[in-house]
Amino acid sequence: MTGSRIEWVRSSCRLLAAIGDEFDRSKPFDGLRIGTGIHLEPKTVALLLVLSRGGAEVVSTGNLNTTQQDAVDYLRGHGIAVVGGPTSDEEQHGRHLREVLDAEPQLLLDNGGDLFLGWLEQPYEGLLGGTEETTSGRMRLAPLRDRIRRPLLVINDSPIKQFAENRHAVGQSVLESFLRITNRSTNGRRVVVFGYGACGKGVAANFRNAYADVAVVEVDPVARLEALLDGFRVPDRDHALRAADVVITVTGARDVVTAADLAFFAHGVVLANAGHFPFEIDVRGLERAHGVESREESADGIATLRLADGRHIHVLTGGHMVNLAGPHPLGNSIESMDLGFALQARCLEAVARGRIGPEACVVPVPADIDASVAEAYVRAAGPGA
Ligand SMILES: NC(=O)c1ccc[n+]([C@@H]2O[C@H](COP(=O)([O-])OP(=O)(O)OC[C@H]3O[C@@H](n4cnc5c(N)ncnc54)[C@H](O)[C@@H]3O)[C@@H](O)[C@H]2O)c1
Repeated sequence: MTGSRIEWVRSSCRLLAAIGDEFDRSKPFDGLRIGTGIHLEPKTVALLLVLSRGGAEVVSTGNLNTTQQDAVDYLRGHGIAVVGGPTSDEEQHGRHLREVLDAEPQLLLDNGGDLFLGWLEQPYEGLLGGTEETTSGRMRLAPLRDRIRRPLLVINDSPIKQFAENRHAVGQSVLESFLRITNRSTNGRRVVVFGYGACGKGVAANFRNAYADVAVVEVDPVARLEALLDGFRVPDRDHALRAADVVITVTGARDVVTAADLAFFAHGVVLANAGHFPFEIDVRGLERAHGVESREESADGIATLRLADGRHIHVLTGGHMVNLAGPHPLGNSIESMDLGFALQARCLEAVARGRIGPEACVVPVPADIDASVAEAYVRAAGPGA
């Protein structure tokens, strides 16, 4: 990652830039320390720098496996304290999180619940509250409301995050990743999307817009009906797999595609996962299945399984999130992250200013913050938007 990409991202985050200009004057975080445990990559760099412009002393560390050294260097060069660097070592990561908490931040920006759980293990005076970015963090923290007893706003539960990132941005970036990794066209290709939630809707729509022939497989009859009314075919699972050129899972569920499906796959099928965890496609099970003779890396981000009967099955990015794990991943669009991080900045500001009471513990973003961020985005789009 070069410095220029970080500059490109910063200059493209229009909402964050405007909030930063405002924070230069209003200083909502003056005298406060904000502890963060979120991926350190160009888009989070833009967010952390805006918090710093608001007067915060930011003490940050990354998440497991995702920290980018250039982002760390850039932050340090701009006066942000970063604990540690890239690591895949869970114990080391745990020590980094502890070090962030040892600084006793008054606000926490959490991603997965680790910081708030760490605070509950060793509570300190002065924590005002904070934010949690993800659904998985919300699920860990919600049962602990009685012990947290502070404002804690969950960004993922904002409708803006649901449609801007999960639907539009994931759909676009999964299509972009398929094109970038395979360099194959989508025209007329039979694509099967497993899951028609927020993300699946975007993936299905983007591939259809790229002239693919898209079918949806859903376990929920209501979501299946919605897919049908949206104009997608909704064949039975086995029928869909037999006809598929490309299979994309985006469900959040385990073992959506397994070795038991090998019998159905056509020669040359491409399998990709866009769900959070790499267990939607049981890649190891497929590799070890009876009839699989060999596995080879056929191109960067593509593994090919050769079957004894002559068929080839291609798996993208080892079954990890195809839009984040492949060669030169860019992730979701800057605009979608700008929206999500504008929600972060406004939520932290509201907690810092005492505008949110302790009863708002592990709850969605307040409606007035959603409205103000939405208005700012539409305004920035210009009068003809
Ligand atoms: N790649 C990314 O950048 C990115 C971004 C956001 C979320 N995600 C992940 O994508 C996944 C889906 O997120 P979402 O917001 O769409 O979730 P969602 O809960 O809105 O939708 C999931 C859908 O999958 C369906 N489903 C579950 N098991 C299934 C199965 N075995 N076969 C077919 N359908 C099945 C459910 O009925 C549901 O309709 C999650 O793992 C989420 O964390 C990825």
